[in-house]
Amino acid sequence: MQSIKPVAPERLPDFLRSLPKAELHIHIEGSLEPELIFTLATRNGVKLPYADVETLRAAYAFSNLQSFLDIYYAGASVLHQEQDFYDMARAYLLRAAADRVLHAEIFFDPQSHTERGVAMESVINGLHRACVDARAELGISASLILCFLRHLSQEQAFATLEQALPLRDKFIGVGLDSSELGHPPEKFAKVFARCRELGFHLVAHAGEEAPASYIWSALDALKVERIDHGVQCEQDALLMQRLARDRIALTVCPLSNLKLRVFPTLAQHNLGRLLDAGLAATVNSDDPAYFGGYINDNFVQTFAATGLGAQYAYTLAHNSFDASFIDEGAKSGFLDQLNQSVAAFQ
Ligand code: ADE
Ligand code: ZN
Repeated sequence: MQSIKPVAPERLPDFLRSLPKAELHIHIEGSLEPELIFTLATRNGVKLPYADVETLRAAYAFSNLQSFLDIYYAGASVLHQEQDFYDMARAYLLRAAADRVLHAEIFFDPQSHTERGVAMESVINGLHRACVDARAELGISASLILCFLRHLSQEQAFATLEQALPLRDKFIGVGLDSSELGHPPEKFAKVFARCRELGFHLVAHAGEEAPASYIWSALDALKVERIDHGVQCEQDALLMQRLARDRIALTVCPLSNLKLRVFPTLAQHNLGRLLDAGLAATVNSDDPAYFGGYINDNFVQTFAATGLGAQYAYTLAHNSFDASFIDEGAKSGFLDQLNQSVAAFQ
């Protein structure tokens, strides 16, 4: 990684916003803004238990992951038709392009829709069409990662995989999300092994709220290529060494960690320590509509609170492309854009 010149503190927010970056941890249902939730509720005749946008937004006060997930699944219940999924992804991609995201790998939770009677085709075709249009119209590259809900069973994950396989050209990988505590990665070892045979990329949420043992198990039982969150790895020095040695990227989401009380304040976030230990950390937004910010808000607020400087920002942006699942040619093109952008800013 090259060293770059320091950036004056007053120019740092502009530097962070100007950096080309990849977003590798974004739940598309978590990008559903309250305004769009109400628009879709009206379109689909869904009655919401909130009077208006302000009342809904006021309910976004979370004490832990589960308290957030309850409201996140309620919000997603307005999604019914293919066009709804398209509109949601289109809104995110427009917002991401404005934050200089050149490439996004987007999680979606099909089980939260199919269990309400929505067709798998509506979910995947709507999201995929938005990705195709975004490449042509916004110049942003985007691909999809299907996440299994870990509070459901492995049998249900297998059934979901079967339903999605006719559309397998429209997603590049599988992940694991939802309620972490009590649902360790090894619960899904067989379905991940099958997905590996099928040639999908593999990721999993681990070590968000649950201990470091969940990260070991994501690596060893699921054989994932990246860990989503992973901030609890700090409890285990041997695990830190393993993650650093194997360059297993962590898709860290600071504002999410703050809002879900994984860290009491942003100033206490361990992003800088993870990077100092040689880990391939990246910065991402997780569920930006719920946690008060998109990817640049995560960068700007975290850097302001922790005092991290431009070299860390460059490393994070570089890591985001290195850890992405794009081919090597596209990767080196994005890294060239990063280096040119840094040189032009300085
Ligand atoms: N689904 C959406 N956001 C999530 C998070 N932060 N952790 C686990 N599952 C999620
Ligand atoms: Zn997440």
